[in-house]
Amino acid sequence: MTSRRSFFQKSLGAVGALSLSSLASQALAEDISDALVSLNKLAPLAAANDEDLWARMAQAYTVTPNILNLNNGGVSPQPKVVQDAVDLYYHLSNEAPTYYMWQILDKGREPLRRKLADLAGVSNEELAINRNTTEALGTFTWGIDLKRGDEIVMTKQDYPNMIHAWKQREQREGVKINWINLTLPVENDDVVLKAYIDGTTAKTKIWHITHLITWTGQILPAAKLCAEARKRGITTLVDAAHSFAHIDYKISDLNCDYFGTSLHKWLCAPFGTGLMYVRKPLIEKHGPFSQ
Ligand SMILES: Cc1ncc(COP(=O)(O)O)c(C=O)c1O
Repeated sequence: MTSRRSFFQKSLGAVGALSLSSLASQALAEDISDALVSLNKLAPLAAANDEDLWARMAQAYTVTPNILNLNNGGVSPQPKVVQDAVDLYYHLSNEAPTYYMWQILDKGREPLRRKLADLAGVSNEELAINRNTTEALGTFTWGIDLKRGDEIVMTKQDYPNMIHAWKQREQREGVKINWINLTLPVENDDVVLKAYIDGTTAKTKIWHITHLITWTGQILPAAKLCAEARKRGITTLVDAAHSFAHIDYKISDLNCDYFGTSLHKWLCAPFGTGLMYVRKPLIEKHGPFSQ
């Protein structure tokens, strides 16, 4: 239940980051907020069984009753208040693009980055808002300085987009992937740590870590892996597509070097929104795509 609570709390954080335009949306958001307060007062089982409360939560969304959608992970549905804000700003932008987009809406970018930084427990300077996890991890995979023969440790259970990106780098530039194959489910963190350590050699430069594995929901001990990597001078990349705003932690708890997530998954933010984090001392190692 902790994660369910924090999911709604964080959803409301995202909602709050957008300025609400319609009174109806505002009323709906306030109703969810009240429902959340009630939820927090209940024991987990009582909260799970409180159908009235969940019916109020459901009203915040516009999902069809015609399909039982069991995949809310690829992208989650957005609450109505988020949809309304996206529609409003899209239409406003089209009324006078250069004025509304660049002079008005752009002013919301830094406040939003600060809110996301609060949610993530890191500095806003370490965050960039982007389109999704794939873009974040792809930016890291191609943006980190590596030379022929340098090694990356990753698991066969990592996400295909990231596997393909590293394989391309392997084919084009001669870096080497050391594969580890986790037997899931695994409850002992030491087993995961040992697997990464066993896959590591003197040439290993990167540990690629999927925080919450897509296929089974397995949570890897990302903080412990990052601490172990740091001791060895190895850079860590965390694919947090499914952990951010789903399980209760801050990016700062992981002490990782690079981290990417999608805001359109568990945070229920607009489709095509994501977040990337680079630990402060590493930022100056990277140049922008364009000046
Ligand atoms: C572990 C993991 N990483 C990355 C992604 C890709 O997410 P996106 O399409 O939002 O970039 C997914 C998609 O579900 C995933 O499960």
